[in-house]
Amino acid sequence: MILDGRAEQSIAAGARCIRSGELLGLPTETVYGLGADADNADAISRIFAAKGRPADHPLIVHVLDAAGVTYFAATVPDFADRLIQAFWPGPLTLILPRRAGVVAAAAGGQDSIGLRCPSHPVAQALLRACRQTDGSAAQPAVWGIAAPSANKFGRVSPTTAQHVQSEFGSELLILDGGPCELGIESTIIDCTRSVPVLLRPGAVTREQAQALCGQKVFLSDEWIPAEAAAPRASGTLASHYAPHAKVRLMDATEMQTAIDMLGQGLQSGSGTAPAIAIYSRSPLKIRSKQLLSRRMPQGAAHTAQQLFAVLREFDQQGVKLIWIETPPQGPEWDAVRDRLQRAAA
Ligand code: TXA
Ligand code: MG
Repeated sequence: MILDGRAEQSIAAGARCIRSGELLGLPTETVYGLGADADNADAISRIFAAKGRPADHPLIVHVLDAAGVTYFAATVPDFADRLIQAFWPGPLTLILPRRAGVVAAAAGGQDSIGLRCPSHPVAQALLRACRQTDGSAAQPAVWGIAAPSANKFGRVSPTTAQHVQSEFGSELLILDGGPCELGIESTIIDCTRSVPVLLRPGAVTREQAQALCGQKVFLSDEWIPAEAAAPRASGTLASHYAPHAKVRLMDATEMQTAIDMLGQGLQSGSGTAPAIAIYSRSPLKIRSKQLLSRRMPQGAAHTAQQLFAVLREFDQQGVKLIWIETPPQGPEWDAVRDRLQRAAA
């Protein structure tokens, strides 16, 4: 069931749902999450079951504010503190050493915990309602909502309430917060080593993070720690964020050549569903009705905002192949390029 997340009663219903150990679809500024009380091991196991996600892949825990960090994290290095001051609430997740005894299930058994403070007003209102306690044992404060992206494991993240419903059905309670403003998942920075390490690019760029924390942010292949095994992060698997159709990245010339070569063959069978979808920034000559085409926006932020919705739409049209023009170089495109490369893997 989808509820209007702007209504006070919806927030109350969402908070009741979290408190009773049920799952809830919730909006954030990045993508929609499939949420549950981070400290309730049964509720957490329901998330893993619903997503079909291996239980050793840790979840991000969403907190209302920096006080949540004190609850879940054992220590916070200075550079992490600076990142929190600069980017929270917002699209940045920090991996921190986990305080012993809290949220072991959500952490997938690791001794670290991923924390993020989302800026979306509906997520904020929900986290505030969950944190509230009436002082009785019957209503303890819920400090965190564990929420991976609300999609089946390995699939494209949802950016609308309807996407979430199409993944998990109408039984799931979903707070509608409109289409996500950013459209791709948060930047993840590992703060459990002696230096910050970028695990997943997102709207907060590596350059911005470096400028604000005052030190180099390493890429994971630049910093292979002797002291710790690399954390398991499903968003960092080579193949992830994949639509059902096969995705191929190519440059505009290559794409035009491929379209021209297909040309005649495809035109003949008019009336049937399009076989190939094309998502390109450059203007291309496309004559066949069996090629479905969408223009990619010129800007990286705009492209990120619509990317997953476009991939879902292509899937819905039943295409077998999706050809995407390789995005330009430049740090502002890092996150989009990362998602596209994984979708194509
Ligand atoms: O924008 C986002 O981050 C969204 C919204 C809902 O907040 N959430 C999201 O969650 O993308 P998920 O579970 O789909 O991706 C979380 C990523 C995974 O790759 C997970 O493995 C990694 O974060 N992660 C979480 N906790 C971790 C930890 N303790 N150590 C290493 N990686 C961790
Ligand atoms: Mg995900």
